[in-house]
Amino acid sequence: MSNSTSHPLDDPAVDPFEVAQAAANDIARLSGVEHHDIAVTLGSGWGRAAELIGEETASFPATEVVGFSKPALEGHAGTLRSVRTPGGKNVLVIGARTHYYEGHGVRRVVHSVRTAAATGARTMILTNGAGGIRETWKPGQPVLISDHINLTADSPLEGATFIDLTDLYSKRLRDIAREIDPTLDEGVYTQFRGPHYETPAEVQMAKAIGGHIVGMSTSLEAIAARQAGMEILGFSLITNLAAGIQKTPLSHEEVLEAGREAEPVISALLARVVHAL
Ligand code: HPA
Repeated sequence: MSNSTSHPLDDPAVDPFEVAQAAANDIARLSGVEHHDIAVTLGSGWGRAAELIGEETASFPATEVVGFSKPALEGHAGTLRSVRTPGGKNVLVIGARTHYYEGHGVRRVVHSVRTAAATGARTMILTNGAGGIRETWKPGQPVLISDHINLTADSPLEGATFIDLTDLYSKRLRDIAREIDPTLDEGVYTQFRGPHYETPAEVQMAKAIGGHIVGMSTSLEAIAARQAGMEILGFSLITNLAAGIQKTPLSHEEVLEAGREAEPVISALLARVVHAL
């Protein structure tokens, strides 16, 4: 399905959960795997994790699955993989993120998460590349997401759907990650709409309201994952210090470069965390 005007999630009369179930059926057909246990969304810098998580059962372009949109960005591979861990768990590895800033609406943003839930996954691991507000953090460092502040003023929930977001980023899963890497720090992820980076004043605002990480994804996906009853683990790769904290201008190239350098280390970390679940 292309991101043309006929996209099923753009029709308000269509139930997004039915599209997610149809997508899960596509994945079962394309992969031969009926049930997935864990889903992992790979953000900038995390792309090599798939091969370390386990043996690939199947790999196919996300666009072969109903409801998925074409990748908007170089560096965001649009591939879905089914990977089997050494312990025998099936992991759906999602290398196809639709960002809120693409302007296709929040239904498309969270479709991958809803699809993951429909494949059976009870655990959702969301990763991203993001800016760091804490001055002690260095580009290339992975941090756990402890909570979020959603500055998009949007929600994947439709109608009067009241969902508790306490412990959204599971303390239990964060503790498991810290058993594997005790040096992991954590912070509050602040989602801006993007695609422009924040101004230094906006970064100071994020800091003042309790944010430690700035980025353009993840929060809306985490809300949808909670709605679907999944347990959530969030990781940010600090690709740069946020605008004004770092004294040099931000560039997408710098973000990709930090991702490329950190990739072997953080991908290995992510694989070890998946194996511990
Ligand atoms: N801000 C928002 N998103 C980002 C950043 C940032 O500094 N770095 C990578 N993604």
